[in-house]
Amino acid sequence: MQPAALITGASSGIGLAIAHMLAAEGFGLTIVARRAEKLEAARAELEAVGATVIAVPANLADEDAIVASVKAHEAKFGRLDMLINNAGVGIGQPIDGITVKHFDLQFNTNVRASFLYYRECVGMLKAAAAERGVARVVNTASITALHPQPWLSAYSATKAAVRSLTISMNRELAASGVFSTALCPGFVETPMTEFAQQGIPAEQMIRPTDIAAAVQMLLRLSDHCIIPEIPFIRPGEDAL
Ligand SMILES: NC(=O)c1ccc[n+]([C@@H]2O[C@H](COP(=O)([O-])OP(=O)(O)OC[C@H]3O[C@@H](n4cnc5c(N)ncnc54)[C@H](OP(=O)(O)O)[C@@H]3O)[C@@H](O)[C@H]2O)c1
Repeated sequence: MQPAALITGASSGIGLAIAHMLAAEGFGLTIVARRAEKLEAARAELEAVGATVIAVPANLADEDAIVASVKAHEAKFGRLDMLINNAGVGIGQPIDGITVKHFDLQFNTNVRASFLYYRECVGMLKAAAAERGVARVVNTASITALHPQPWLSAYSATKAAVRSLTISMNRELAASGVFSTALCPGFVETPMTEFAQQGIPAEQMIRPTDIAAAVQMLLRLSDHCIIPEIPFIRPGEDAL
């Protein structure tokens, strides 16, 4: 039976690159993001390379929308071999400029949604692991999870929470064959980093395909191997 993956934030950047990689690996895909038009364009792009894809527009701040997206995936594919919790937002604010609206947006999208996806998907993930030995969850954290940044304190805290969730989930679910990995990239060339591209030229940033290549590597591992986190560093970056 064809393996299947659900990818949030798959309409652009890192999520879309991972979707292309998984399509090439033969996965059926459910792709999720807010803006329906952009998501449809991604679906068309993936179908053009032969993938079986459903696009489910959803705002990850909405619990019901998350539940509905998992139900739509299950109805289409009946199994889940890989969950990619990737959708995220980052909003720079100095500490005396923090607004509840932007704080909640970042925590709801980056953190709460990942918890809810685990809750909704764990049954299918365990079933896939029981059948094939392993099922994997990939959580897109950030290098800020390891090196919190000024003016990005809320964003950095969300990503530290995603990293923490990944560790808890390995301790809770690894015995069932559900293995989790936190991706911790520095600057990747995507729409999210357009604001930074005056300081760091786009061509000097990590490529979305670098991130997809690391996820592809996870598919090659045996069911005796968990990689809990992967930092991605640009040459010369402080985090080296
Ligand atoms: N680019 C970097 O340098 C970098 C570095 C470290 C970590 N990351 C992380 O990588 C992940 C992907 O970011 P990216 O760089 O690929 O940025 P991107 O190209 O802007 O992609 C973000 C994706 O998330 C979706 N999204 C955002 N808010 C959402 C919400 N509330 N509900 C559903 N979908 C939502 C977006 O679609 P809609 O806007 O249409 O919803 C889009 O598909 C994020 O978690 C980000 O924090 C990025």
